[in-house]
Amino acid sequence: MQIRRSEERIMINLTIDEKEYEFEDGMTIYEAAKSRDIPIPTLCHNDMIKPYGACRICLVEEKGKPTLIPSCSTPISPNMIISTNSDRVKRGRKFVIELLLSRCPESEEIKNLAKDLGVDTENAESLDLVGTYLLKEAKPAFETKCVLCGLCVRVCAEITERHALGFSKRGIIRKIKTPFEKYATTCIGCGSCAYVCPTNTITIEEVS
Ligand code: SF4
Ligand code: FES
Repeated sequence: MQIRRSEERIMINLTIDEKEYEFEDGMTIYEAAKSRDIPIPTLCHNDMIKPYGACRICLVEEKGKPTLIPSCSTPISPNMIISTNSDRVKRGRKFVIELLLSRCPESEEIKNLAKDLGVDTENAESLDLVGTYLLKEAKPAFETKCVLCGLCVRVCAEITERHALGFSKRGIIRKIKTPFEKYATTCIGCGSCAYVCPTNTITIEEVS
């Protein structure tokens, strides 16, 4: 097992995209890749907030694992062999972004990310069978730009500790709501939720 102690820090070796690196133990795969300028797309991740693994857009492949894994919430371990851009990874991310696009077809941020991942709703050839059905046949349950990444809920709980937002209901009707869908008396109007939202779903308005 490749583990080295360096000035009290535990360093471990792993391979990303066929190159060997040494990282400090405790990092996630996403953090390790980012520290070496290896790009991995994210939506529900924010460096200041605990990983949650909600959106799955950051999927990577670990050699020997039967399924793709979320890089933002998976810690590195010795001798891992990670691929961030294999065909399997690209197919996995494409599937995820098609699901997100089918929920939020009007979100400019999701459309742009989809294009980056090779999905263009104007170009039928860029869609696979599932994507064609989801984007052309299926109708969203309701109009929304929210991808349910939970960043707004988590920033409000973890950073400002106001707990003014939460998830409500399940499945395709799941939404972000204030407690009991009433005016959140704990909200201090700091705007953190709007700041972290990757799809600009939340806007801040003055109320009197
Ligand atoms: S409102 Fe924005 S931050 Fe909150 S869950 Fe939806 S997309 Fe994420
Ligand atoms: S960024 Fe990793 S699951 Fe969303």
